[in-house]
Amino acid sequence: MILPLTELQIPLANSAESAERDAWDREHAWHPFAQTLEREVLRPLSIARGKGCWLFDREGNRYLDGNASTWTNVHGHSEPALNEAIVEQLDRVAHSTYLGLAHDPATLLSKRLAESSPSGLEKAFYSDNGSTSVEVALKQSLRHWQLMGQSERSVIVVMEGGYHGDTFGTMALGADGPFTEPWRRWSFPVRRFKAPVCLECGGEVLHATDAESLDSLTRILQEEKGRVAALVLEPSVQGAAGMMQQPPGFAGKVEALCREAGAHLILDEVFVAFGRIGSTYVCASEGVQPDFLCLAKGLTGGYLPLAATLTTNEVFDSFTGPFHEHKTFYHGHTYTANPLGAAVALRSCELLEDRISSGAVAKTVEVFGRVVSETFLDHPRIRRIRQRGLTACLDLCPESGASFPHESRFARDACLEARERGLLLRPLGNSLPLVPPIVISDEEISFLCSTALEAIEATSY
Ligand SMILES: Cc1ncc(COP(=O)(O)O)c(C=O)c1O
Repeated sequence: MILPLTELQIPLANSAESAERDAWDREHAWHPFAQTLEREVLRPLSIARGKGCWLFDREGNRYLDGNASTWTNVHGHSEPALNEAIVEQLDRVAHSTYLGLAHDPATLLSKRLAESSPSGLEKAFYSDNGSTSVEVALKQSLRHWQLMGQSERSVIVVMEGGYHGDTFGTMALGADGPFTEPWRRWSFPVRRFKAPVCLECGGEVLHATDAESLDSLTRILQEEKGRVAALVLEPSVQGAAGMMQQPPGFAGKVEALCREAGAHLILDEVFVAFGRIGSTYVCASEGVQPDFLCLAKGLTGGYLPLAATLTTNEVFDSFTGPFHEHKTFYHGHTYTANPLGAAVALRSCELLEDRISSGAVAKTVEVFGRVVSETFLDHPRIRRIRQRGLTACLDLCPESGASFPHESRFARDACLEARERGLLLRPLGNSLPLVPPIVISDEEISFLCSTALEAIEATSY
């Protein structure tokens, strides 16, 4: 719905109160991925309410959530069915530990995840976020090989350009850059294979090759023969790399090479699962059978921090044995499998399954792809567009066609222009990702694209 929702536009604070709270935030809160020197230019909006694809600040101004609250939101904000799932659970118990105890929301969610994911992923291990879901997979894979008497299987292989989180283990997997380099001397070594090149522009495939990438992977697997524990891949789209796409079928080819090498395949679907590429899981839609599947973000519909690492009975069974053998997986977090998170995840998965099977998500993807292409194709400030599912990324450029200098803040400035026009976006370098909630309407897609275009055109460089 595009029209203002008037009751949500009633300010929650007068201007003096608002200014005071902004000052408290400035004094006491440290925001992630934010240069503190730019704090005044990039004053964080204080979000007070949400409804559908819209967020409302404390003053009652409304904004379309064009990055789905960091790529997580599925069914919109304040969705009655999801709110109800949380409230029902809240009336029972908000949290009890999963260490030595169980509860129905996580039991039911585990069953549902096992039934809905590719066959063989029978066990779910819960943690709190995308990074920890990958950490769990890494630790389980490495320990599995030790328990199988194959400690020499200790090498981790990743694809160039990957992003798997900000913890030490996931930084080790991540691409070089300011997010990882300052901590490199504390990172464990990994082998990196080339990413495939697949540039799609407005539906036209300009260049798609996976041969070079698979050759480089084959070489590494031969050099490390018998020593590779696992390969970690973001299948289909590498989000933080700038929505870099793999040619369809690429993950299956990587899977085949992993099987041949006897190594685990860890798929990090933290970003691409739960409708983002149109299906619940990319691996299921591409017929790929991973040994580990990492899920977070959209798992709870974007409501609460909950992550799951799915794996096979074969991996699980290797951790089974008499206590004194210490095969126990010694890992867990205080809020592991939080009941509120599990309850909302369960409800969100049910709603999403209906949306996917009814064709609603496919229709949204089709409209999104068409409007992105119609709006941005051949625009002089846009060098390249990548769109797949409900992900799009615009590589911005100065009018001359050259690239922006490294220090240019053009995309950031365009986001500020967008904010002035009621649209929330976050830049990735000088690229502009468009990642809306899965339920975005046709009208809202038009607003998203036309407002992003206006913002780009209004930005000076
Ligand atoms: C593919 C992928 N893996 C892992 C993560 C890390 O997730 P979190 O920020 O929840 O730790 C992200 C975050 O964007 C991601 O895109």
